[in-house]
Amino acid sequence: MASFREMFFTPAEFAAIAKVDRGAISSLETAGLLQTVKRKVGNVERKMVSLENMQNYFRKLRETQGAGIDLSNGDGAVAAGLPIPIESVAMATVANPKHRVQMFYNVKGGTGKSTLTAQFVMRATMMGLNVLAIDLDGQGHLTVNLDVLDAHERPTIYDVLINDLPIEEAIMPVAPGLDLIPANLGLCNIEIPLNNKSRREYRLSEALSKISDRYDLIVADTNPAASILNGSMLVASELVNVVCATNPLSFHGMSLVMATIEQMEQEFRRQLEVRIVPNMYDNREVISQEVLGELRAQFPECCTKTVVNRSADLNEATKRRTTVWDVSSKGMAAQDINSLTEELLFLR
Ligand SMILES: Nc1ncnc2c1ncn2[C@@H]1O[C@H](COP(=O)(O)OP(=O)(O)OP(=O)(O)O)[C@@H](O)[C@H]1O
Ligand SMILES: [Mg+2]
Repeated sequence: MASFREMFFTPAEFAAIAKVDRGAISSLETAGLLQTVKRKVGNVERKMVSLENMQNYFRKLRETQGAGIDLSNGDGAVAAGLPIPIESVAMATVANPKHRVQMFYNVKGGTGKSTLTAQFVMRATMMGLNVLAIDLDGQGHLTVNLDVLDAHERPTIYDVLINDLPIEEAIMPVAPGLDLIPANLGLCNIEIPLNNKSRREYRLSEALSKISDRYDLIVADTNPAASILNGSMLVASELVNVVCATNPLSFHGMSLVMATIEQMEQEFRRQLEVRIVPNMYDNREVISQEVLGELRAQFPECCTKTVVNRSADLNEATKRRTTVWDVSSKGMAAQDINSLTEELLFLR
């Protein structure tokens, strides 16, 4: 068991995340695209990829892509200073996120918002993106999921929006490439003072605009209510990921959620991209299948192709306060988080 910032990946795990053939790892090393470290596992020294090795790999690829260099031919390899062309690199995984500011949302509680936000930001960080996670729920579950246990002593978005604390001072590092604005119980008291502030719904996006150029991705976890704080995040966001558990009550609440989003769009003259993420799906349950079918029929444009299955691995990751990759890299939950992350980042 390891906290996210101390994670090491096996070559097979790296290959699965980078979508490269495992046999290509040596040539990626020779080409200087990937560095590995030797780690003792039991009595054996094994080649491993640290979190930072993984991030550097993705960053190097992103740089070559940004410069319009195709590494899979000889000219591109020479231009990038590589000894050999790399035919196996999966450039699809190194695009920039389509929407830089995202939120996980549902006025209904317990649908899996905090769990999926935490897994999404950790997975995006693994791909070398500079990520800021924001906890907008006084329960502080995103904060705990990211293994921050001293949030009661730290500033939160309350201090930024109500006490005019510079937003930089509310940001803390969690892991290389991953920062957090944590939450604690004090944030539960924000609604009345925020309501009394001028330009209340704009305060969060104005604060975020001061630091947004430092990040490739900003992702908020929200509280389960139609609150002003959530409204502020809807004003700041480009993509809203509505997490819907595949049970009848969650489905019933979807019309209210979509109506709330539409109302915000009209009031603040914004156009939001919305994705509905079906969560806790169990294909052995007829009710799960029915709800998924109804979700897809009623919101055909919005439902993600990825369905997150109900899995003990996600509960275990919550308990251990780490990524699901650390629980079981070959499990269904790791595959689901993989495909969800890629879908929400690149909207493919
Ligand atoms: N796909 C899943 N499979 C199994 N358990 C899950 C799954 N998604 C979430 N859970 C579990 O469900 C519980 C509720 O999840 P979570 O706290 O993320 O919901 P939430 O929507 O953030 O709740 P709240 O509205 O209170 O903020 C947690 O114990 C979490 O581990
Ligand atoms: Mg939550």
